[in-house]
Amino acid sequence: MTTTPLPIAAGRRTRAALLVFLRPERKRLAGAITLLIAGTVAGLLAPPLLGHIVDLASSGASTSEFVLTGVGLVAVALVDAVLAGLGFALLAQAGESTLARIREGFVESALRLPLEQVERAGAGDLTSRVTNDVTVVGEAARSAVPEFTRAILTIVLTLGGMAVLDWRFLVAALVAVPVQAYTVRWYARRAVPLYARQRVAVAAQQHHLLATIDGAPTIRTFRIAEEHSGRVAARSQQAVDLLLQGIALMTRFYARLHVAEFAGLAAVLATGFFLVRGDAVSIGTATAAALYFHGLFNPINTALALVDDAQAAASGLDRLIGVADLAGEPRTPKPVTEAPAAVVVSGLGFAYHPDRPVLRDVDLVVRRGERVAVVGSTGAGKTSLAKVIAGVHDPVSGTVEVPAGEVALITQEVHVFAGPLIDDLRLARPGATDDEVRAALAAVDAAGWVAQLPDGLATEVGAGGHTLTAAQAQQVAFARLILADPPVAILDEATAEAGSAGARLLERVAAAALEGRTALIVAHRLTQAVSADRVVVLEQGRVVQAGPHATLIEEPGPYATLWQAWSGQRDH
Ligand SMILES: Nc1ncnc2c1ncn2[C@@H]1O[C@H](COP(=O)(O)OP(=O)(O)OP(=O)(O)O)[C@@H](O)[C@H]1O
Ligand SMILES: [Mg+2]
Repeated sequence: MTTTPLPIAAGRRTRAALLVFLRPERKRLAGAITLLIAGTVAGLLAPPLLGHIVDLASSGASTSEFVLTGVGLVAVALVDAVLAGLGFALLAQAGESTLARIREGFVESALRLPLEQVERAGAGDLTSRVTNDVTVVGEAARSAVPEFTRAILTIVLTLGGMAVLDWRFLVAALVAVPVQAYTVRWYARRAVPLYARQRVAVAAQQHHLLATIDGAPTIRTFRIAEEHSGRVAARSQQAVDLLLQGIALMTRFYARLHVAEFAGLAAVLATGFFLVRGDAVSIGTATAAALYFHGLFNPINTALALVDDAQAAASGLDRLIGVADLAGEPRTPKPVTEAPAAVVVSGLGFAYHPDRPVLRDVDLVVRRGERVAVVGSTGAGKTSLAKVIAGVHDPVSGTVEVPAGEVALITQEVHVFAGPLIDDLRLARPGATDDEVRAALAAVDAAGWVAQLPDGLATEVGAGGHTLTAAQAQQVAFARLILADPPVAILDEATAEAGSAGARLLERVAAAALEGRTALIVAHRLTQAVSADRVVVLEQGRVVQAGPHATLIEEPGPYATLWQAWSGQRDH
């Protein structure tokens, strides 16, 4: 199977989108940065205080002076801890809220994706974005971003502190910078493509795994289990290899950073030695400078290591925003049509695979209030036509015009959502009163069995609750249709699978639910064609006959043949 992955946003687009998502957090962000700066400045008083203790020791000062400096150190540590803690909390809150908004955008968009786009991308693509990418970005928002911010502030302010002690300390400290800069560029050049490949490999592995699990019965039937587990194993191995390459890269990255630390600290100590010998600074000041530089190790390593998380988070974010953006892309426009036509299909072509057309050059007009039945043999394209008209799939060629937001599609794949039955019905019209819901149920002959449920309308149904029969689920679907009250309804096989007694009940129910609506009915039982205003016969994706039932049975052709077979069957 060829797959076309879902889109990935380009870096610039991601940054622009991120700014929009961050805008509501401006105040929290400003507060957080202020707290972190104040905390860091307080923390930076510690090295000079320690240096002062060194000077006190070398000049033989009194005990009380030591104690006072010690108290100062404790105070500085406390203030730093409290302010930094508050700043971190604020920053993490802002990050979480932002992530929640991005995730909402993603889900909203994913739910609106055309099915064929998800199918082309493979289920694993969407799944790995919802799981892996959201996790990576979430961790970044919770810890990496606050830590990175704090590290950068510490670095900048510490360098400032060194300059205050003596500008020559700052110059010495900067000896480390070229090594670090080189290391980061060296790393980023290798890490970015490596992470991108890792993500693709993990998505491919999940895709193969899901496809294998989905297709397990088929795979067993055809005894191709070994081939499939081989394929999953190969994909997994590929993902593992790439992850190991990432770890090796990290190790080399840290080794190079240690070289930078060594060079910088050596320079600062040598500078301190010469400055103290020349009486430019005290031993305490030189101590403070060395402590400052040593204090830079952690924040620098944190910041640089976070470049790593940032790369991973950025590529995750690109993938999330790539999907979130799809919602903004216009789908095939479906202009509102003037009465009397409710559905106008012209020159419609459709295919699931480019080289296998399923619908060809279909023209079909359903006038307002009209009831049109679509018949045809298995695989003729009836379901596909219903789905394209309902907007589930986009046409490949030609046009479909339906009144925007006024069409409902009911298929036999009715989904009963887990939860109280009444919530399931209210999906169709959130504001519906209990009486309206009851009236809809009565109209579809469901009032009786609903009253007998353990908790009536409040009964939990669906996964984990009371199981509805297929016919009951269909009745719920029709009751939803009545509540949603769309002017146009498309019915596909809604009555096909219920057995003949069940089918008669559902036919009656369908008729009640379609009362007053324009309807396009995929008819498997030709009784539905008899009662329709017009019948359209589809064969191999083309309309081969159209007209009222009474006319069509009079002329030789596919419909007359279908009718004879159907009524012959019923006579026995
Ligand atoms: N999701 C899909 N991917 C690829 N091909 C599909 C898909 N769904 C249907 N087809 C193919 O499209 C053609 C038309 O199928 P469709 O389901 O529209 O026929 P139908 O008239 O509804 O048949 P039935 O009477 O069995 O319901 C068939 O050849 C079918 O194999
Ligand atoms: Mg079908």
